[in-house]
Amino acid sequence: ACTSDSGDDSTLTVCTNVPFEPFEYMDGSEYVGFDMDLMQLLAERLDQTVEIVEIDFDSIGSGSALNAGTCDIAAAGLTITEERQEAMGMSQAYYRADQALVVPAGSSVAGLEDLSGLQVAVQSGTTGETYAEEHAQEYGYEPVAFETMGDIASSLSSGGVDASIADLATWSAMIGDGTDFTLVQPIETAEHYGFAVQKDNKELLDEVNAMLDQAFEDGTYAELYEKWIGE
Ligand code: ARG
Repeated sequence: ACTSDSGDDSTLTVCTNVPFEPFEYMDGSEYVGFDMDLMQLLAERLDQTVEIVEIDFDSIGSGSALNAGTCDIAAAGLTITEERQEAMGMSQAYYRADQALVVPAGSSVAGLEDLSGLQVAVQSGTTGETYAEEHAQEYGYEPVAFETMGDIASSLSSGGVDASIADLATWSAMIGDGTDFTLVQPIETAEHYGFAVQKDNKELLDEVNAMLDQAFEDGTYAELYEKWIGE
């Protein structure tokens, strides 16, 4: 059912990047999360088996992984942007997202205006990185790019960086897990996540959109939203 040269017909290869709770992260050796469950629905619809390809987010966000045939679809909390719509086939939106400013517990930073002279961690290739770069001069901080959210968390807890700007829901989940960070403020960017396929793979894009339509209608989406994100 897929026209990509990655995998065979019985396999849906899914590019992702962990950890990115609650959308994709490891539970033991298993990839779990909201995106992973939605990909499971897609695979069932196509009578395929999901195979995860873990890859750096840069290659996902730029479209290079998909266009090189590394996977059939990207499921990575991927914000729909004009650039990405040019580079890939982007599905309809399935989640409304914002950014957030996070600091280690005990930091005196109480807002973006306190970041002057500080280092702000972002994930390479993300919309958080773009936001941080666009506002670096205004607030006088230095954006520092990391490859994964896990690397950001390690650096934040060891004092390597002073703050981070990344997706709000992911930070909320990580803080809910007991990491010693404080969510200083949400940054409203009004983003929407979508799934991405190779630019010319209209067949698979139609299936993704149909899977989402059905999940919206039959209550599966609401159930999964409640399971992973809550209200
Ligand atoms: N929503 C942001 C973006 O699209 C960040 C996504 C990061 N995803 C991940 N799986 N690490 O740029």
